[in-house]
Amino acid sequence: MKKIVILGATGSIGTNTLDIIQRFPDKFQVLGLTAGSSVEKLESLIKVFKPKVVALQNEKSAAALSKTLSASNVEVLSGNQGIVEVARHPEADLVISAIVGAAGLLPTLSAIRAKKNVAIANKEPLVMAGEIIRREATLNGVSILPIDSEHSAIFQVLNGEQRHSIKRIILTASGGPLLRFSNKEKEQVSLEEALAHPNWKMGPKISIDSATLMNKGLEIIEARWLFDVPPEQIDVVIHPQSIVHSMVEFVDRSVVAQMGLPDMRTPICYVLHYPRRAPISLPSLDLTEVGTLTFEKPDTTAFPLLKTAYTALEEGGTLPSVLNAANEEAVTAFLEKQISFGMINRIIQQTLEAHTPQSTETLDDVLEADRWARLEGKRWIKQCTVC
Ligand SMILES: NC(=O)c1ccc[n+]([C@@H]2O[C@H](COP(=O)([O-])OP(=O)(O)OC[C@H]3O[C@@H](n4cnc5c(N)ncnc54)[C@H](OP(=O)(O)O)[C@@H]3O)[C@@H](O)[C@H]2O)c1
Repeated sequence: MKKIVILGATGSIGTNTLDIIQRFPDKFQVLGLTAGSSVEKLESLIKVFKPKVVALQNEKSAAALSKTLSASNVEVLSGNQGIVEVARHPEADLVISAIVGAAGLLPTLSAIRAKKNVAIANKEPLVMAGEIIRREATLNGVSILPIDSEHSAIFQVLNGEQRHSIKRIILTASGGPLLRFSNKEKEQVSLEEALAHPNWKMGPKISIDSATLMNKGLEIIEARWLFDVPPEQIDVVIHPQSIVHSMVEFVDRSVVAQMGLPDMRTPICYVLHYPRRAPISLPSLDLTEVGTLTFEKPDTTAFPLLKTAYTALEEGGTLPSVLNAANEEAVTAFLEKQISFGMINRIIQQTLEAHTPQSTETLDDVLEADRWARLEGKRWIKQCTVC
């Protein structure tokens, strides 16, 4: 029986993971669940999955849950420290890292330092501190298994291959809901339009990142650290059908792709059972029904954040962390209807321009860059909400 901890259990990845776990009751046991502040959702998950320990980041929510569960033997922890405690629980065999944003960095690192294998969907920590996460995983002898569909595809394609055989990684991108919008139309797009991803049902932050194509930018950086491949060996191609989840070109010019219907339960099932595969009852991909698969070059003038992410990765140091924090602040402001869609890009560019890049030797350097960029991003947001 594999004992599983899910960080971000109430989110899109968290609930898809629990869907898979529920299908294999003799293989997996839910040991720990965490969430931000969703007490009711967490409470309903506790009833079904009976974890030993749970944590809510929000202290008030944790206190309310503690009260409700006072007669049960579920341990309720609170705050960032509570989430870290669940992440490094001594009995955990596999930790699913599915918190959204930078908030997942410390719990994910804590799990690695406690020698837990981690299956990672939470890409932002890899963007901020990919080198540190890789180093800590090697030092502690643990595996980092990708959940993101593109990275899962590459991971599956590379199974049994040697790193020096890779010519390039080709990440596919659906292009998001605004692929065919003009720049003028994109500028004032509504929140509902920006959230309406054509192929994937995901949490709000990643949905907006998909609309700006920043998600692909973050994924380039994620791929760099997960597969130890330099930026010049990572390409992006727009593939609106989301059937080819990504490809690898090898030195002999063979290109190997992984395909499937867009459903996160497939890559989640893969990491839960890795290195084996397990049968799940989901619809099969019927290529005759899909008919046509198309591929096109990304338009980096229409979607400038893709290029910005490449630059941040190439220049390195504090830049990826600043990019990520400025993006999180701008996306939050857009989700709260404080700024227009078009302002997301401008806030990120202004924050990056104001930054003096530095090297990141330690986690503190990364966290300091994150802190600085949030303040700077907020300053630009305030300016543009009054302008
Ligand atoms: N969704 C997908 O299909 C998908 C695909 C590939 C990669 N990813 C990546 O996976 C991660 C999660 O995405 P998602 O779409 O599942 O997000 P989501 O639906 O918004 O869920 C986020 C989860 O994180 C928790 N959370 C939020 N803020 C927190 C904080 N400050 N401290 C602790 N927990 C916090 C939330 O709890 P509450 O419910 O209490 O707010 C929730 O459980 C992201 O990094 C995303 O890029 C997602």
